[in-house]
Amino acid sequence: MILQAQSISCRYGGFTAVDNVSLSLQAGEILGIAGTNGAGKSTLFAAIAGQQQPSAGTITFDGKNITRLAPFERAQRGLVRTFQVPREFKSLTVHENLMAAAPNTEGEQLFAALVNTAARRRREAAITYKADAILKFLNLAAVRNVPAVNLSGGQKKLVELGRVLMLDPRCILLDEPFAGVNPVLIQEICSHVRVLNGQGIAFILIEHHLQALKSLAGRLIVMDRGLILAEGSPEQVLDDPRVQVAYMGGIA
Ligand SMILES: Nc1ncnc2c1ncn2[C@@H]1O[C@H](COP(=O)(O)OP(=O)(O)O)[C@@H](O)[C@H]1O
Ligand SMILES: [Mg+2]
Repeated sequence: MILQAQSISCRYGGFTAVDNVSLSLQAGEILGIAGTNGAGKSTLFAAIAGQQQPSAGTITFDGKNITRLAPFERAQRGLVRTFQVPREFKSLTVHENLMAAAPNTEGEQLFAALVNTAARRRREAAITYKADAILKFLNLAAVRNVPAVNLSGGQKKLVELGRVLMLDPRCILLDEPFAGVNPVLIQEICSHVRVLNGQGIAFILIEHHLQALKSLAGRLIVMDRGLILAEGSPEQVLDDPRVQVAYMGGIA
């Protein structure tokens, strides 16, 4: 078990967005989370990745309680997330966006003008090389020097993925990676997820696009109004009458 969320509740003021939700993820597993808008999926990710402190519950990663850790401390342990709305640095190039995601880059830049040591240059070269290798893997090499603001929606999702890959993650939470992405790029993102999963990275994917989710995830959870409505194999879950009602007959 790489990740465990036990009895997580999240509130916004008096409103309970996530209500006593528990889930677990095996190392190397791909878990899908579906659910209508406002079900609490992104809030659950925020609790797991550390952007939001849950009002109750415990998050365990690799056997350690991480509930009180800052997002960057969770990332250092290998737990990272992407955001539903990509958070790229618009004026930076694609390559610079990846460079900026490398651990400790900011702190080092403070001293860069003062201390231009060989060790620092070697580290910078290693990060540059790593960013280029990730861009090549994601088929983004052609837009390496393009400002992120000029990318398509799908390319921005890929840059989000590239940024978290800079952190050598063991578990990646993807928040709606296919939303606003054209079908060709959806297939490409799926294949990247499969390759990374084959290298041992575990994933939780939030997605409305149920067919894409079904083709990737071995197990599905459907959330509705802060609760887990159904959980099991994709076939079981998509056949569940409660899920069909929650989606009002609109299962994709
Ligand atoms: N920052 C916030 N302040 C207040 N309410 C919020 C905030 N973020 C989300 N919510 C509410 O919490 C509920 C769950 O939202 P969210 O986790 O974004 O759902 P999902 O990702 O499943 O669409 C929704 O009703 C939403 O309006
Ligand atoms: Mg969401």
